Amino acid sequence: MFRNLKLEYLDLYLIHLPVSMKPDEFTFPFAKEDIIAMDFKSVWEAMEECVELGLTKAIGVSNFSCKKLEIILSTAKIPPAVNQVEMNPVWQQKKLRNFCDEKGIIVAAYSPLGANGALWGTNRVMECNVIKDIACAKGKSIAQICLRWAYEQGVVVIVKSFNKERMKENLDIFDWQLTSEELHQINQIPQQKAFPALEFIHSEGPYTTVDEFWDGEI
Ligand SMILES: NC(=O)c1ccc[n+]([C@@H]2O[C@H](COP(=O)([O-])OP(=O)(O)OC[C@H]3O[C@@H](n4cnc5c(N)ncnc54)[C@H](OP(=O)(O)O)[C@@H]3O)[C@@H](O)[C@H]2O)c1
Repeated sequence: MFRNLKLEYLDLYLIHLPVSMKPDEFTFPFAKEDIIAMDFKSVWEAMEECVELGLTKAIGVSNFSCKKLEIILSTAKIPPAVNQVEMNPVWQQKKLRNFCDEKGIIVAAYSPLGANGALWGTNRVMECNVIKDIACAKGKSIAQICLRWAYEQGVVVIVKSFNKERMKENLDIFDWQLTSEELHQINQIPQQKAFPALEFIHSEGPYTTVDEFWDGEI
């Protein structure tokens, strides 16, 4: 892996999703039949070993619910530094963020614009009327309102663009702020998750429903 990345160590190494695959059977796209339950204790011990060996500075998780974080924390010697999860004005993750704050886990917001156009994405964020109205009134773009909102929540924001102008636009959010009235309006937006993780739901697998995968936090 390090040879491919041309690196000597990682800054942060994450468990992408709370699932494992049958040993030696990983192909991509994967077969649902190959999904098995993650042995959280031993997987996290292996992550900790990566830190002890100097392979990574920090370790964390992604797409973990409060309940699954509790499982990791119950045996961890090194707590997860980060939980990288879907977060935007239409999926604000209030409960998970409170939990992570209490435990000292940094939340990193993926799909902060809703990943419009991606397989797992939604146009509900970029077409949200509340955000549109705030953007119009402030002379900012919809993307900037979303990114500024996430930044003001104190999370790490991971936005993606392949377009130079949009990259610049996405960085231009640090010398202005949202008013308390605007924050209140965003707070009232009806919530809907874009990525239910259906790929990992299978009648014979460790998660038979979307609710089980997210531990009801959906
Ligand atoms: N851990 C996980 O399970 C997980 C899951 C999903 C995503 N992620 C990561 O999170 C990062 C970002 O999330 P994401 O790509 O899903 O979603 P995103 O950043 O919310 O949305 C990306 C989409 O928005 C467009 N965009 C970017 N800036 C824009 C702007 N200013 N105005 C209009 N459109 C704009 C991009 O198009 P252009 O490129 O054409 O600008 C692209 O189509 C990625 O690096 C991804 O790898 C992690």
